[in-house]
Amino acid sequence: MKGTVMVQNSELADELNQKILENKLKGKSLSIGNEIYLMESADSTNRVCKEIGSKGGSHGLVVLAKEQTAGRGRIGRGWLSKKNEGIYMSILLHIKELPIDKVSLLTLIAALAVQSSIEKETALLPRIKWPNDIVLNGKKVTGILTEMNSSNGGNPANAIAYYVVVGIGINVKGEDFSGELATKATSLKHEMLQLKEGVDSKYAIDMNSLVATILERFDFYFNQFKSSSKFPFLEEYNKKLINKDNVVRIIEKEEEYRGIALGINEKGALLVKKENNQIVEIMSGEVSVRGVYGYV
Ligand code: BTN
Repeated sequence: MKGTVMVQNSELADELNQKILENKLKGKSLSIGNEIYLMESADSTNRVCKEIGSKGGSHGLVVLAKEQTAGRGRIGRGWLSKKNEGIYMSILLHIKELPIDKVSLLTLIAALAVQSSIEKETALLPRIKWPNDIVLNGKKVTGILTEMNSSNGGNPANAIAYYVVVGIGINVKGEDFSGELATKATSLKHEMLQLKEGVDSKYAIDMNSLVATILERFDFYFNQFKSSSKFPFLEEYNKKLINKDNVVRIIEKEEEYRGIALGINEKGALLVKKENNQIVEIMSGEVSVRGVYGYV
């Protein structure tokens, strides 16, 4: 029977541990994760990381917390961050003179890094829901929130980002998805339990390994991105996109309409073919994309 698994919690997910994490990254010469702060509790790792950024913190620095008391989500939402139930981390990036319209591409890079890491570290095969959710079984398991400190020197067309904070929240062990979340959210553990009746060590989730792999993958994607004139992962991203070629609902502040999601373009915008055959470019920002019957 599904759900009746004789297994200790500790076998399913270790607690995050700074020493173990640093050991896993030792000798890899990554620019991402060269300095790691693991906090017992933070209000929001994005807020802490931004504060460190404003005081000159170095590129690639990572802030992790075992819990967040005021985790932040997209579009002014919160992010449920119970102690030791998830991975809550923020990466500080200094990118010299990155035009502001390219900052959203960093969110797509983070999505690719997390998607490929979950695939590597678990028996699960997640997909990406544009722009920045990772989904399993049609439900969200990861959210990404990119924030920046920028200046436009008086002219919005010339805006540049001084530093960017990419915040990643992964539901690892959570089981309590009640109310509205029941049809929308899931955790890695919950999805693993659906795969197999008894969970053995092969199916355990090692949080430290998962974080180390995400940092390694992020480093790889970020370095390629930095040295390319075009977004180098268009094909890979579109292959992993859950809504591709499906009908989606686009929910804007004042308007809602339907169309077929064709995939993303070089700018990271989602191309949607409307019912009148017009193709529109959707930029992330304040827009939500949903499936016709639910979340995907
Ligand atoms: C979303 O709404 O989908 C984005 C959620 C992002 C949550 C993460 S958890 C770590 C980092 N710190 C925060 O306060 N938010 C992000």
